Amino acid sequence: MRDEQVWQTLRELEELEQREDLQEGLWRISEETGLLFNLILRHSGARRILEIGTSSGYSTLFLADAARANGGKVVTCEMSEYKIGLAKETFAKAGLAEHIVLLEGNALERVDELDGPWDFIFLDGMKDEYIFYFSELWSKLRPGGLIVADNMISHEGYLGIEAYKFTVDCFEDAASVTVPIGSGDRFTVKLAALQKTAIDQDAEKHQGD
Ligand SMILES: C[S@@+](CC[C@H](N)C(=O)[O-])C[C@H]1O[C@@H](n2cnc3c(N)ncnc32)[C@H](O)[C@@H]1O
Repeated sequence: MRDEQVWQTLRELEELEQREDLQEGLWRISEETGLLFNLILRHSGARRILEIGTSSGYSTLFLADAARANGGKVVTCEMSEYKIGLAKETFAKAGLAEHIVLLEGNALERVDELDGPWDFIFLDGMKDEYIFYFSELWSKLRPGGLIVADNMISHEGYLGIEAYKFTVDCFEDAASVTVPIGSGDRFTVKLAALQKTAIDQDAEKHQGD
């Protein structure tokens, strides 16, 4: 990430969160996590990116910088009025507003509007709700796409987090790893259906001969 305007906005948000008169905690990802997301998105050329849990828009900037480079967009969901206002300011200051669609309101109620296919989905809302988003959005993730869930290490042992890991592991077309970065992020890739080779097909034809 080389855009000075984006970095300046990120630094301002880091300063803002130090203030004691903040109305609500911002609970952002780490800079390193954001950079990893940005790099993966650029590497994969992701254009359809979804985020649940915008807060101040700190993480969204890392996603949107890559979306801009790839000719895509980020859709991000937030329900707190205070944070919606903050995020709008953030997107304008960073010069990334035209690459972001901010869905205002309860994401649980708007998830059926979130038509796929998505290339990358970032879950960073309420931890107990991760399972709901996964079950609603998995079919809308393209094969080879990624779903990333935050707070896997910081909230290890919480019912919502453990239930999420268990549920995801039950899907045969999902492969996951938890990366010890920031609060701990679980990356889950949607496996593409295996293509049968001519040898497989021949073996099937002669089964029982
Ligand atoms: C951990 S913060 C997100 C931090 C942000 N991703 C970042 O790294 O800068 C979680 C946010 O999700 C929002 N949220 C939680 N449940 C939500 C829901 N059902 N619909 C919309 N927003 C939700 C909260 O208001 C909060 O701002």
